[in-house]
Amino acid sequence: MKDSYDRKINYLRLSVTDRCNLRCKYCMPESGISKKTHQDILRHEEMLRIVRISAKLGIEKVRLTGGEPLIRKGIVDLVREIKCIDGIRELTMTTNGILLGDMLDDLVEAGLDRINLSLDTLDENKYRKITRGGELGPVLDCMKRILDKKMKLKINVVLIGGFNIDEVVDFVNLTKDHPIDVRFIELMPIGEASQWSHDKFVSGEKVLELAKLLPVVTEDLGSPAKYYKLEDGLGRVGLINPISCSFCDNCNRIRVTSDGKVKPCLHSDSEIDLMNIIRNQGDLEEALKEAIWKKPKAHGMNDEDYMPIKRDMNRIGG
Ligand code: 5AD
Ligand code: SF4
Repeated sequence: MKDSYDRKINYLRLSVTDRCNLRCKYCMPESGISKKTHQDILRHEEMLRIVRISAKLGIEKVRLTGGEPLIRKGIVDLVREIKCIDGIRELTMTTNGILLGDMLDDLVEAGLDRINLSLDTLDENKYRKITRGGELGPVLDCMKRILDKKMKLKINVVLIGGFNIDEVVDFVNLTKDHPIDVRFIELMPIGEASQWSHDKFVSGEKVLELAKLLPVVTEDLGSPAKYYKLEDGLGRVGLINPISCSFCDNCNRIRVTSDGKVKPCLHSDSEIDLMNIIRNQGDLEEALKEAIWKKPKAHGMNDEDYMPIKRDMNRIGG
């Protein structure tokens, strides 16, 4: 369905857990997060109901996010079941890739169409540092396996001043010989990162200064990325600039958190409690319609009185 600003909303980002097997410094506090009980997290059947009704309202694409979606028990079955829902054309996942190696074949067999890997550095030591202890090896192995399978792959790199700007060219060069989309994302002042100093926030423009890229014209207005490529590159380089260049006009998405709230906008604290509605026999379809209708025109991240949202990224799913 369309929202009140005539935007077609056809994309649902479903966070299946707020837990993660990493502790990326900009995302999670070092001590981790307070563990929710099973009661507080949507059950499989509840997620499926939400997707079914969303599909009825025009959602065609679902992305599973986290925290880290692969630590959710039964994730392969969930993929299979969502893929069977009428109207869902595309099912994708954003993962840090640590656990993907063992699960890739099963996920693909269950119907997962595409994978976005979150990867902020290609250096083992830096990876350990930014993720507070993660091992890069399994992630790189898994990247190779995805490419061997000829599956589409996107790599999401959060630009962090003083940390990975010196690797921009290395990341860009991955697109030379492989059909990968490498997408640089501006760090957003959310959760842990909302306390970070200004020098950590680097504009996506920096990528264009560092690498010689040609613009690529795409028809995909739903993607927040602007795409470029190396002259002889097989893949593409995307810039996702939520801060310096807002893409709200083409926003096509709603988000559902693992604790069952639907968020009309990533950058607003406004939420509707779907779990409560489901468990108390309320009208789920009405609630989802309201969430779509209530989508704000734009985020106010550049406004003087902008307040960072209260939820950390691991509790939204990006
Ligand atoms: N700014 C930008 N991206 C973020 N992510 C997590 N926190 C932030 C932030 N503050 C990214 C992760 C992952 C995706 C789910 O969101 O790196 O790619
Ligand atoms: Fe986990 Fe992703 Fe947050 Fe890193 S950014 S701690 S991988 S949820």
